[in-house]
Amino acid sequence: MEQPLRKNTGNNLPFSLTTAEELLAIYGSPLYVYQLDRLSATIKHITNSIAYPGTQLHFASVTNGNVALLQIFKNHGWGIHGNTPGDIYLALAAGFTPDRIVYSGSNLDRDEMRQLLKWNIQAINLDSLSQLQLLVDIYSEEYAKPRLGLRLNFPSLTGASRIGVDPDQFATATDIARQAGLTITGIHFYRGTGTNATQAFIDAIEPILAIASQLPDWGDLDFGGGFGYPYHHDKAAFDWAEFGEILSTRLAKLDRQIQLTIEPGRAAIAGSAVLLARVVSTKWQDQKQLLGIDTTVANLSVPAVHGGYRDIVSWQTSDQLFTTDVCGNTTYSRDYLGRNCQLPRLEIDDIIAILDVGAYGYAMSSHFLHRPRPAEVLLDHHGSHRLIRQREDYSILLNHQIFEEH
Ligand SMILES: Cc1ncc(COP(=O)(O)O)c(C=O)c1O
Repeated sequence: MEQPLRKNTGNNLPFSLTTAEELLAIYGSPLYVYQLDRLSATIKHITNSIAYPGTQLHFASVTNGNVALLQIFKNHGWGIHGNTPGDIYLALAAGFTPDRIVYSGSNLDRDEMRQLLKWNIQAINLDSLSQLQLLVDIYSEEYAKPRLGLRLNFPSLTGASRIGVDPDQFATATDIARQAGLTITGIHFYRGTGTNATQAFIDAIEPILAIASQLPDWGDLDFGGGFGYPYHHDKAAFDWAEFGEILSTRLAKLDRQIQLTIEPGRAAIAGSAVLLARVVSTKWQDQKQLLGIDTTVANLSVPAVHGGYRDIVSWQTSDQLFTTDVCGNTTYSRDYLGRNCQLPRLEIDDIIAILDVGAYGYAMSSHFLHRPRPAEVLLDHHGSHRLIRQREDYSILLNHQIFEEH
């Protein structure tokens, strides 16, 4: 039954077992743990990689809307990229001023578009002529003039996408904006999420600059997010230093100084968090270890439902590793937090850590399967920690329900 595979070297462990035990004893299990040192190091690394003067970095909070974490980005001088009015609402709650918020989203209704103007959001990237027309119809002198941009639809670089404006429509867009005395100065490009191939971004630079120069008043370039994170730790990572150097050098050769914006989501935060969970039951099927843990894909929907991969590690040391399925605490057929992992034999109450859950982790969790969500904790450099989101209890499942008392 036992298959010696590779040694669990412990290299991937996020912190000590003592810390993991302490955190679970205080805050309960399962638990999202964010590591401030990792997050700060990543933010600094990305910031230092782009030397082009005046570059603005905006965290794409679609990946993680925890306000305490957004404030860390603010302290590092970053702004926020909002995909939805909800992203902006959270950014304002975190203390970002409207001039530090970029909106690039899709399909707002009239009230939402008006809300962007009322919030005084200074950079608004639109993804269709119809959204532009809506903004122009609503816009009036009572609002500050937003910096307008167009999200580029560029199938040869990104593959077919529902989002964005074809460059052939730039002239019409410019005319629509002029109806309200507005100018379109921005080009917004989004490569598509999770690309670790640095060259794919580098190859996009020239075509984008060629297209941007067709816009009569071009002065802003938002190079988007989409930068990958190496969830498979032995695979290549996106190379920020290389990308930043090539982009900065190329932009310096333009005939004008532009405003460069970069809005990383996943790349900025994925590696800064782990989800801790405890083993609650064990089972063997032939050679395979089945671990039942006290969390579910609904608490971290990415791995099983959306096809992503996250390393799972434990603090148990053993020369023998076993092919292991890490199973959630429901009977939903896709409730696997990991499949075919290599783990030592674990026992009830042992702790496991699911790595790299900072992006699209809590943000994509849901009440599907009716399990309340975990708490979130911020662990700082010196081992001190604080709660940054409370654990939910069952009462959350009744929120907004209307029914007869019995
Ligand atoms: C316009 C835009 N920018 C940035 C992001 C963040 O993407 P990523 O996490 O891939 O960097 C998204 C994600 O939806 C987006 O739509």
